[in-house]
Amino acid sequence: MDSKRLIGLINDLLDLDKLDAGKMILSLASLNVAEAVEAAIASVEPTATQSEIRISLNDGRVSPVVADRGRIIQVLVNLLSNAIKFAPEKSEIKVTLKDSGQFVSVFVHDDGPGVGKEFQSTIFERFRQLPQKSKSGQEGSGLGLPIAKLIIELHGGKIGVDSEEGKGSTFWFQLPKA
Ligand SMILES: Nc1ncnc2c1ncn2[C@@H]1O[C@H](COP(=O)(O)OP(=O)(O)OP(=O)(O)O)[C@@H](O)[C@H]1O
Ligand SMILES: [Mg+2]
Repeated sequence: MDSKRLIGLINDLLDLDKLDAGKMILSLASLNVAEAVEAAIASVEPTATQSEIRISLNDGRVSPVVADRGRIIQVLVNLLSNAIKFAPEKSEIKVTLKDSGQFVSVFVHDDGPGVGKEFQSTIFERFRQLPQKSKSGQEGSGLGLPIAKLIIELHGGKIGVDSEEGKGSTFWFQLPKA
């Protein structure tokens, strides 16, 4: 394992420990979700470019939410990195924002292999990885989604995945409006 991945793993384990102990403190403020998505896209762009993957943002004006910007970017970076790992080369990953009642929803869609119904809840548990290999072989530790779920729930939101095998995956989360 290279040192960058090792540091990532240690940080993930520290985050989980904090979340389990109820000691993750959110710095809540009004957040422009589109701006957070743009920051997350910028941070994964070099990896996407390696596979000629384009990431688009459909920014249909949504209300601000109350959230911890750094933690939401952390969740977005994991969802985008997962999408990049599984999306076919030269495909497009689509991020869509929707205003729905008391929540703002974020959808991240990729044209990868999808996630079978039987795995849609287990992938949010620790160390669960599907047998299907990503483009660059198996990498990561299976902690990104469990951390994302705890962070979103700590915000009073929800996270999930919609997928039909062969039709890609849409990972989504909702955050309460300000
Ligand atoms: N967009 C996706 N398409 C297909 N499978 C996915 C996708 N996102 C996640 N998965 C499946 O869910 C598993 C768990 O994802 P998670 O983000 O928790 O861990 P990881 O990406 O494998 O490792 P880490 O995030 O800790 O680096 C992945 O290993 C993969 O099997
Ligand atoms: Mg991941």
